[in-house]
Amino acid sequence: MSEFDSTISFIFGRWKSQILYTGAKSGIFDYLTTNPVDIHHIAQDLNLNEIMAYRILRAISTLGYAKEENDGRRFSITSLGEILKKDHPQTLQGVLLLEEGPEHYQIWKHLPRMIKDGQQNAFSSEYGMDLFEYASKNSEYSKIFNDAMSSYSAMHTTMVLEALNNYDFTNISSLCEIGGGQGHLSSHLHSKYDHLNGTILELEPVVRNQENSWPSKMGLQDRCKYIKGNMFDQVPSADLYMMKMILHDWSDKECIQILVNIHKAAPDKARIFIVEHIVPEPSQPHFSKLFDIHMMCATTGRERTIAEYKTLLSQSGWKYLQTHYPNSKMIGVIEAVKNG
Ligand SMILES: C[S@@+](CC[C@H](N)C(=O)[O-])C[C@H]1O[C@@H](n2cnc3c(N)ncnc32)[C@H](O)[C@@H]1O
Repeated sequence: MSEFDSTISFIFGRWKSQILYTGAKSGIFDYLTTNPVDIHHIAQDLNLNEIMAYRILRAISTLGYAKEENDGRRFSITSLGEILKKDHPQTLQGVLLLEEGPEHYQIWKHLPRMIKDGQQNAFSSEYGMDLFEYASKNSEYSKIFNDAMSSYSAMHTTMVLEALNNYDFTNISSLCEIGGGQGHLSSHLHSKYDHLNGTILELEPVVRNQENSWPSKMGLQDRCKYIKGNMFDQVPSADLYMMKMILHDWSDKECIQILVNIHKAAPDKARIFIVEHIVPEPSQPHFSKLFDIHMMCATTGRERTIAEYKTLLSQSGWKYLQTHYPNSKMIGVIEAVKNG
């Protein structure tokens, strides 16, 4: 791609993601099949304005997520479009609905101001409370957020299982996932290692809403139980702790508070796995360096290098051991042990 074309593609990136967002939000991706359907029926069945719906579907087709037939304004799904269906095993629909939805759309406008005044967490500036408090007071956002975390996990769980494929779990009997959301990762770990008995520590609204919880869906409720709680107060005892996309939500001071709390509850030689997008060396482009800006907008947190995680661990009583990566290196699993 030429410099001009790639710059154009970045400048109009938001147009593209908003077009896909509208397709997901209005049910277009879930509705379309590989058999072309005419726009009149699509609009009628999805309760859309036919003229506007045609224009959106034409734009979605230009992006490759649907196909417009040359005759009669008929549309079908493409293989690219399948990944935006709710029921696709690796669905990205949840991620799209959260990250391009109205709450997260609004917070990015604070970015130029934040890099001047150094005050991050645009979510709080925009809504007067942090993201998790907002989620606890807004059930629609909470549902979109939790579904999105499962949608992220559809990618991440496979990567974690790959990264830990040669890990010896035989001496681990209890696993506690802190902030495990709908439990996608925990459930898949319990399903693969059937001697594990575990807990998922979550905030009350997440524990209350079990509609899309993975332990129930996978019939693992007896071995993978939800515990209502707050990681800033107290966590249960376990041989192994897992935290995926947790520490990146919080400042260094807050991360140390969480890690110290886990340390207090953990038995000797307990392990901790921290799953995050890890920032690699300066010259290497990496998704973590973009996700870091989203964390600047949405939270008090950040994406960190291995050296930064090592510092947090040593300041809270944990000894860094190693980092396990899947082939893609998109995420990493940092392993540490309680050193007394
Ligand atoms: C970014 S999400 C990650 C969810 C899940 N680990 C994943 O990767 O899909 C952060 C999770 O932490 C939970 N959480 C936030 N504050 C918490 C707290 N004080 N105690 C326990 N869980 C908390 C949220 O409810 C949310 O599910």
